[in-house]
Amino acid sequence: MDRIDFLRSELNRHNHLYYVEAAPEIDDYEYDQLMNELIALEKANPDRFDPDSPSQRVGNDINLNFNQVYHRFPMLSLGNTYNKQEIVDFDERVRKALGHSVKYICELKYDGASISITYEHGRMVHAVTRGDGEKGDDVTANVRTIKSIPLRLPEGNYPDLFEIRGEVLMPRAVFDKLNEEREASGEAPFANPRNAAAGSLKMQNSAQAAKRQLDCWLYFLFADQLPTNSHLQNMECCRKWGFKVPTFVAQCDSIDDILAFINHWDTERRNLPFDIDGIVIKVDTISDQQELGNTAKTPRWAIAYKFKAEQVQSKLLSVSFQVGRTGAVTPVANLEPVQLAGTVVKRATLHNADIIKSHDLHVGDTVMVEKGGEIIPKIVGVNTDLRNPNAVPVEFIANCPECGTPLVRNEGEAAWYCPNYKACPPQVRGRISHFVSRKAMNIDSLGDETIDQLVSVGLINNAADLYELTVNSLLPLKKDGRVWATNIVNGVEQSKKIPFEQVLFAIGIRFVGATVAKILARHFGSMQNLMQASFDELKNTDEIGDKIAQSIVDYFSDEDNQLFVNRLIGYGLQFETAKQEAKSGKLQGLTIIASGKLEHFSRDEINRTIEAHGGKPVTSVSSKTDYLIAGENIGPNKLAKARELGIPIITEAEFMQMIADDELQPAEQQEEKPEEAKPKKDGPTQLSLF
Ligand code: IVH
Repeated sequence: MDRIDFLRSELNRHNHLYYVEAAPEIDDYEYDQLMNELIALEKANPDRFDPDSPSQRVGNDINLNFNQVYHRFPMLSLGNTYNKQEIVDFDERVRKALGHSVKYICELKYDGASISITYEHGRMVHAVTRGDGEKGDDVTANVRTIKSIPLRLPEGNYPDLFEIRGEVLMPRAVFDKLNEEREASGEAPFANPRNAAAGSLKMQNSAQAAKRQLDCWLYFLFADQLPTNSHLQNMECCRKWGFKVPTFVAQCDSIDDILAFINHWDTERRNLPFDIDGIVIKVDTISDQQELGNTAKTPRWAIAYKFKAEQVQSKLLSVSFQVGRTGAVTPVANLEPVQLAGTVVKRATLHNADIIKSHDLHVGDTVMVEKGGEIIPKIVGVNTDLRNPNAVPVEFIANCPECGTPLVRNEGEAAWYCPNYKACPPQVRGRISHFVSRKAMNIDSLGDETIDQLVSVGLINNAADLYELTVNSLLPLKKDGRVWATNIVNGVEQSKKIPFEQVLFAIGIRFVGATVAKILARHFGSMQNLMQASFDELKNTDEIGDKIAQSIVDYFSDEDNQLFVNRLIGYGLQFETAKQEAKSGKLQGLTIIASGKLEHFSRDEINRTIEAHGGKPVTSVSSKTDYLIAGENIGPNKLAKARELGIPIITEAEFMQMIADDELQPAEQQEEKPEEAKPKKDGPTQLSLF
């Protein structure tokens, strides 16, 4: 076993310890060291590429269009019930049909997106969503980024071909953070972790899916030849092969044991880091399962008990209307305080006007409030029998409660919006609060309360006004407030050093979140270039689609926005990507073209790297070109032309060798391959590619 094999196997082992067993042996730093060493060695030895290497779990930028794949065994759903008597009936039915006593396995019912993963000779070959049960979407590229799922199993006695099924989940903490980021960039938040997990599996770009930090529990094995005649023991085999299989399970011989497990988890589930929506009860013995068989859609040998979303009754005192940062108006029910799922609930969301209408809500109504998968409680029903005959219906407002502007509703959207985004106070405050936030201008001396105060006394009306604040203008707002005022002014001053990509995020263009801002800043290099970019230029930028491109064009075609940005430019904020200090002169005087898909660089990145080392990136092959870097699927014309002109054609790995920092190379490599470190212009190394 050489160093690459050793690192791969160590990293796989640490992934398993961390993501499956939750028992890491090393800290993040040590893990990163191993990973960096592996990545460096793989770069230096491209012939050792392996799609199953732990370094490959970051996904890639290739657009996925999901092929439909038929399941070898249909993906059935489970019969489910909210009623414990039906669990008692299920047990009776099963025992009667089999004619003997039965051992059941109770498991958590994970609330995510179901997946079926096929392994051939110990290698993951594809992962398919449930779809219609017969066939689903091939989401293998995204599933390969989930670190708790092994890509390749170590030697073991698993069947040559098997399918393992389970549930892809988004842990609640990851979900909360994701939604925070989506709201900050004006994107609609996901309603619950289940939708977020399902949405992430269907992402078009596996590099983006990799960032979603999904997890996966596997709870069912399918193969022509199963290892044992017990579901539980089969799961134990899967655990040994490296899969994350349910840990909270109970073997139950009686209905009382089953009910005790259900009752325990009905409350204990709140302490789990992910959502479950019930308990699954399975007959353990596989031959019993086969004897019981399936109905058209569900097995007769299993049932799900679903937890009721907790509900309480309360009284609707009034409805208020909240205007968010984006101007969307949300009706909120003010309730008589009630205890629900461990907290006192005084308010519940009514989402939108349609919901008020569908419940025919009246002030004073007796309403049912529920806390389900969604985080905020909601009103799910009204007891009209208890309605006072004189009760007044709840009317949705016609004007913004904050600024009086008539509300508008876009075709096909459920929400009403206040269109006065420039002057409506919560929208103004929200934009300023976004502007100063940590990932934006990071002015931590300005909290929401201070912003509210500054807006309400008229000292600021938009984020550009922050740069006009002085200690003297702030002093009247706070007794003995000199330190406070000085901190604010200093914080604002400091923000002038914040890099362009963060400034771009801060100005709050719809759909331009932190990641998109970074891409745009790198691609366009300056605000000037970005402001002048056409819709098509924007759309042709890596990872920028129609929606974002249109939003940017709209933003800059507005005169007030132009004025705002120009004021910021005038105050000296960073509106250009910092010039990369030349890293070396290794490519000094060389004209280089990169073509085809590269493994480690986007088009922008390779060009910037060439420049950073003193070279000149170009886009077409000519007699002046010194090197052609050939990526995957390189255009045949460029190749032919380079050959005709005798231009050296190099691989990405060779390019990386050319710019490699000698001091960072492992010592023995420098000694072993001194010639390869810098290919000579007149002597490209032999390529395995051609
Ligand atoms: S067993 C043939 N076990 O619940 C039966 N399903 O509502 C295979 N689910 O489609 C399913 N946790 O997506 C099983 N521990 C568990 C589960 C589970 C969640 C999902 C699964 C199923 C759905 C039915």
